[in-house]
Amino acid sequence: MIILGIETSCDETSASVVQDGQKVLSHVLASSADMHTKTGGIIPEVAAREQVRSIIPVIEKALTDAFPNSTPSALRSNPPIDAIAVTAGGPALIGSLLVGVETARTLSYVWKKPIVPVVHLLGHMYANWLDTDRLPEFPAIVLTVSGGHTELILMKGHGSFQMLGGTRDDSAGETFDKAARLLDLPYPGGPSIQQAAEAGDPTKVILPRPMKGSGDFDFSFSGLKSAISREVGKNPDINKNDVAAGVQEAIVDVLSAKAIAAVRKYGVKSLLIAGGVAANKRLRELLEKRSPVPLFIPPIGFCTDNGSFIASFAYFNYNPLPWEKIIAIPDADEAIKHYAKNKN
Ligand code: KG4
Ligand code: ZN
Repeated sequence: MIILGIETSCDETSASVVQDGQKVLSHVLASSADMHTKTGGIIPEVAAREQVRSIIPVIEKALTDAFPNSTPSALRSNPPIDAIAVTAGGPALIGSLLVGVETARTLSYVWKKPIVPVVHLLGHMYANWLDTDRLPEFPAIVLTVSGGHTELILMKGHGSFQMLGGTRDDSAGETFDKAARLLDLPYPGGPSIQQAAEAGDPTKVILPRPMKGSGDFDFSFSGLKSAISREVGKNPDINKNDVAAGVQEAIVDVLSAKAIAAVRKYGVKSLLIAGGVAANKRLRELLEKRSPVPLFIPPIGFCTDNGSFIASFAYFNYNPLPWEKIIAIPDADEAIKHYAKNKN
């Protein structure tokens, strides 16, 4: 089965064609990240306007890359795909989400193809199934960490997801982004902090490990921001690289400790990571060192938002709905509940 995946939940516009949930035939991305670097963060209206501009070219490129032997006009009128998958649930910015959803609804109507709504939060995990021969064994714990979410999920099989815990305030990605802003490092903060941390000493600035020993699977990162401000306020000449190393160490220490605790408590067979923060090298290193079960880390290009994991989710959790029933729901929990009830 060949699925066209469309993803526009945040600042990326992405379309991919994936065969049988695993083989990526094309993977196309347009990002407005450069614009947001100038403003130090995402301005939703700017992101959505860029997506309106790029969505059709991105989809056309995904189709021509996947089917190089078809003519552009054949691909426009009737592409050889079996279904369309679209990010219809969050976490997402509503303006951005609507661009992908309305485009997918229109294409589904014109091409007469089924459409599968995907909740972004759950889609992320499927980066672990793309272009790989080494597949995770169930049950698995998934640590999903990005700008929009920080969740620990028990996955008993395809379609069986149990939320074990999540952040009570800021996400791990937001904490990287806010820390970078406090240190005058460029947006997005994750890669900037990682780079600065490589030149710093993580033992110089020891920051708190919020909720590390709380005994549950929730997180809280908002206190870290104030701790960073305090450290910088106390010593304005502080070495930024040392602070970056301290911040990174605090975040990844809590993330990995809780993920490993979940692995042990539920006796699972694999540990998966997903989301933009999964690109962090120190997080990968610590999990590798601490995990008692095989660890699955997707390549960086599949970790951040993209249409490939959306298409993969749709294949393994195939539940098409008529285009009229596809609605954009920016809240992840609400979207999960809505689409669990509205099955075909
Ligand atoms: O999954 P993603 O692309 O978008 C969301 O769904 O949020 O994640 C983006 C987040 C940003 O907060 C960014 O700073 C963070 O992932 N990120 C990183 C790294 N690369 C991206 N955080 C830590 N280390 C990295 N290398
Ligand atoms: Zn995401």
